[in-house]
Amino acid sequence: MKKTTASRPATQPRAFGPDYYERYYGDRDTRVSDAAEIHRLCGFVAAYLRYLDVPVRTILDVGCGVGHWRAATAEQWPRARYHGVEYSEHLCARFGWTQGSIVDLQPRKKLGRGAFDLVVCQGVMQYLDDDDADRALANLARWTDGALYLEALTRRDWAENCDRERTDGDVHLRTGAWYRRRLQPHFQDCGGGVFVSRRAGVALFELEGE
Ligand SMILES: C[S@@+](CC[C@H](N)C(=O)[O-])C[C@H]1O[C@@H](n2cnc3c(N)ncnc32)[C@H](O)[C@@H]1O
Repeated sequence: MKKTTASRPATQPRAFGPDYYERYYGDRDTRVSDAAEIHRLCGFVAAYLRYLDVPVRTILDVGCGVGHWRAATAEQWPRARYHGVEYSEHLCARFGWTQGSIVDLQPRKKLGRGAFDLVVCQGVMQYLDDDDADRALANLARWTDGALYLEALTRRDWAENCDRERTDGDVHLRTGAWYRRRLQPHFQDCGGGVFVSRRAGVALFELEGE
């Protein structure tokens, strides 16, 4: 992707209102990603998970934004149950997402289940300060039985990889190592932003992942 956008959580309320979504997801001249890009990305994730033999019947998309993953996952896994969770009240009213924060959501209470085959968390982590991001990563490990697709803008991405004109820079930038340290006990890094839960018992050849 033209590399990420970001927002903020419960501890640092920020308006994720219509202007934000128009700029980063609506207007062709300023948007950071679009449905076609997420469609391609989801196709890759689905193909990889099929190869790894990770079944996907339930999906949690946390910080789901305007919901590009909903249509994309419906095409890849037509029988899977998709749950979109958003911090933005504006988007919850508009799309009917479940309102909640990745920092303290209780999915069993709100969604009727505690863990999912696939959890998607794209462009959300950088909106959280370190303490909240720490809690959010622990939650992702708890909520993912199968695979996690994670994308978070890092310090290096901001310096070298992203299109700064289109990317929200008012975020918390951390190193990739900061994320990897927290993910490693719970996930196998399969590359491409795909992390498979160690509980899933997937065997990777050494060079297939980190
Ligand atoms: C850059 S957008 C990404 C949207 C979507 N995941 C995508 O990639 O198209 C970041 C989204 O994260 C949401 N967000 C920010 N903090 C959050 C939190 N603590 N819990 C859940 N969602 C949050 C924002 O409301 C915003 O819609």
